[in-house]
Amino acid sequence: MRKPLMAGNWKMHKTIPEAIAMVKELKPLVADVKDVDILICPVFTAVYPLANELKGSNIKVGAQNVYWEPKGAFTGEIAVNMLLDAGCSFVIIGHSERRQYFGESDETVNKRTKATLAAGLIPIVCVGETLQERESNDTFKVIEKQVKDGIKNFSKEEAEKIVIAYEPVWAIGTGKTATPQQAQEVHEFIRKTYSQMYGNDAGGKVRILYGGSVKPDNVSELMKQPDIDGGLVGGASLEAASFAKLVKFNG
Ligand code: PGA
Repeated sequence: MRKPLMAGNWKMHKTIPEAIAMVKELKPLVADVKDVDILICPVFTAVYPLANELKGSNIKVGAQNVYWEPKGAFTGEIAVNMLLDAGCSFVIIGHSERRQYFGESDETVNKRTKATLAAGLIPIVCVGETLQERESNDTFKVIEKQVKDGIKNFSKEEAEKIVIAYEPVWAIGTGKTATPQQAQEVHEFIRKTYSQMYGNDAGGKVRILYGGSVKPDNVSELMKQPDIDGGLVGGASLEAASFAKLVKFNG
């Protein structure tokens, strides 16, 4: 069985004291949760203090990006071993905002994913179509390319560890969630594509998160879909009470 993962993507929000205050409130609200992996991905400066604050808890810390070289003259970048050192266990890779504003491509997604896995961290690789692509019926074509090019050339063992997040760009931060059926259809397609690439075992094991306006009032319907294994959540992960409700989607 795939263990659900509820991941908060804080994007460029919260100072260190704000981040610490949020998780202090969150910890007791989710302390009894054992059957869901809980993850918070804050800005880089808050990674280390949050990881310290969350030591011994059931909440893990991740980063929102990483560079693939281990060290060197790459001003402004951060390496996987540095994230590991700071207490990260996950890294979000290829978020649509990075694709849209910072030149992320399937090729760089692949390099980041390789470096992340090699260091023993878990990549969360994001894919998703724009509104224009959906309206011109290109959703499956776009997703297939992002999965096949972004997540290529791994061993089966590596492929099983990767987490994929399907985030339709038109649903991110817009309040427009994909319907559970729309999301399920794409998740099923991603699993099928992954099975063709890495075999049915890896296809069955890979966790596929849905992202795009996940909220306490739509999470349970989404999570009922057979191929949705969790959420990658922006806005609704910023407040402890609403994120705790998402983590406890089972009621
Ligand atoms: P949202 O963001 O939940 O605010 O739509 C999701 C994401 O971009 O990961």
